[in-house]
Amino acid sequence: MPSNARSLCASPEPTKPVTPPPSSPMHPSTPLYIPTSSLSLHPHPRETPPRRPVLSVVVTGGSTGIGEAIVTLFAEAGHRVLFTYLTRRGNAERLQSRYPHVTATQLDQAQVSSVASFSRTVDDWAGAAGVHILVNNAALGSATVRQYVHQKCQSPNFGKLATEQLPSSAVDMLMRAQNDLALMRVNALGPLWVTDALSDSIRRAADVSGRATIVFIGSVGGGSAAVFPEYCAADLMSKAALTYFSKHLAAQHVRDNIDVMCISPGATETEMFRQSTLATIPDVPAFVDSMPKRRLIQPHEIAKSVFWLSVESPQGVFHGSVLDASMGLAVRPGLQTENDAR
Ligand SMILES: NC(=O)c1ccc[n+]([C@@H]2O[C@H](COP(=O)([O-])OP(=O)(O)OC[C@H]3O[C@@H](n4cnc5c(N)ncnc54)[C@H](OP(=O)(O)O)[C@@H]3O)[C@@H](O)[C@H]2O)c1
Repeated sequence: MPSNARSLCASPEPTKPVTPPPSSPMHPSTPLYIPTSSLSLHPHPRETPPRRPVLSVVVTGGSTGIGEAIVTLFAEAGHRVLFTYLTRRGNAERLQSRYPHVTATQLDQAQVSSVASFSRTVDDWAGAAGVHILVNNAALGSATVRQYVHQKCQSPNFGKLATEQLPSSAVDMLMRAQNDLALMRVNALGPLWVTDALSDSIRRAADVSGRATIVFIGSVGGGSAAVFPEYCAADLMSKAALTYFSKHLAAQHVRDNIDVMCISPGATETEMFRQSTLATIPDVPAFVDSMPKRRLIQPHEIAKSVFWLSVESPQGVFHGSVLDASMGLAVRPGLQTENDAR
C-alpha cells in the first residue's frame, strides 16, 4: 500500500479535534444556509438598525371589516397600500384621504375583465419595485351574497326553461344557484384570478428585494375540518377551494422567495358576521358569551396576524401553512353550531 494512501481498516492516528471557526458553515451554531435577505433582518446589536424598507402592499376588499383593518395597520406602519372596494366607495375615499400613501380602486373579482384592468392599475402603481405583499381578503358570506346577487341580476334569467313544469325543489335550487355561483366566483375563483394577474409584479418584488408574500384570508368554515351546517354550503365549499389553492400555489413556489400562507379566521366582528349570524340570533350577548374565549375576534387582531406573517415572521418558515385563527372554534365548532342562544 502506498505510504500516502489511507486504509479504511487501519486504526486512526490520534488527531486533534477540528473546531471550525465561528464563521465557518460547519460551526454548530451556524446554519448551513442563511438567505442573505434574512441576514439583513438581524443587524449586529451595536450597529444602527437599517431603516425598514417601504413595502408595496395590495389588499383586496379593504373598504370594511378585516380588510379595512389590514389597510390601516400597513398604512400606519408607513407602507404604501393599494386596496380595493366594490360598493363602499365612501368608506374607501375616507380611508384614502386619511393616508397620503394609500390608494383605493374598484374591483369586482368575480369578473375576469375587472381583474384584468385591476392588474394594469396595480402594475402602474407598483412600478419596477413590484408588489411585496398581496392579501387576498375580499369575499362574500352566506348573507352578504344576497345583496351582491340582487345588485348584479335584478331578476334571475333561466332562459327557455319552463320553470312552472319543474318540481318546486328544482325551482328553489335555481334561485339558490345564483348565490352559489356568486360565492364560488368571488371567494374561490376571484383570488385565483387576482393572484394570477398580479404574478409578474409579485415575482418582480421577490427578485428585487428578496422577499414577497401572498396571504389568503380563508375561514374556519371550509378551511378546517369543522363543519358549520347553519351556513350556505357553497360559502364553505368556496373557502375549502381557496385553502386548497393556497397550498397548490405554495407547492409551486417551494424553491423561490415568494411565501404563500392562509389564515383562517373564526367568528370575527364585521358586517359579514353580523348579517350571517348575529342578525339571526335573539340573544346576542348570551351567544357571544358561550363562544370560544367568550368573545368575538376583532378585525385588528386578524390584521396583526397578517402583518406579522408577511413582515415580521422568519422568511420561508410559514410557507405553505394554513393557520387556524378561530380562538378554538375549529376544535369546538359545537360552541357555535349547537349554541342554545341561537
Ligand atoms: N367575519 C367573519 O366572521 C369571518 C370568518 C371567517 C372568515 N372571514 C373572511 O375574512 C375576510 C373578510 O371578511 P369580513 O368579515 O371583513 O367581510 P366584509 O366586512 O363583508 O368585507 C368584505 C370585503 O370584500 C369586498 N367584496 C365583496 N364582494 C367583492 C367582489 N365581488 N369583488 C371584490 N371585492 C368584494 C367588500 O367590498 P365593499 O364593501 O366595498 O362592497 C368588502 O371590502 C373574507 O375573506 C371572509 O371570508 C370572515
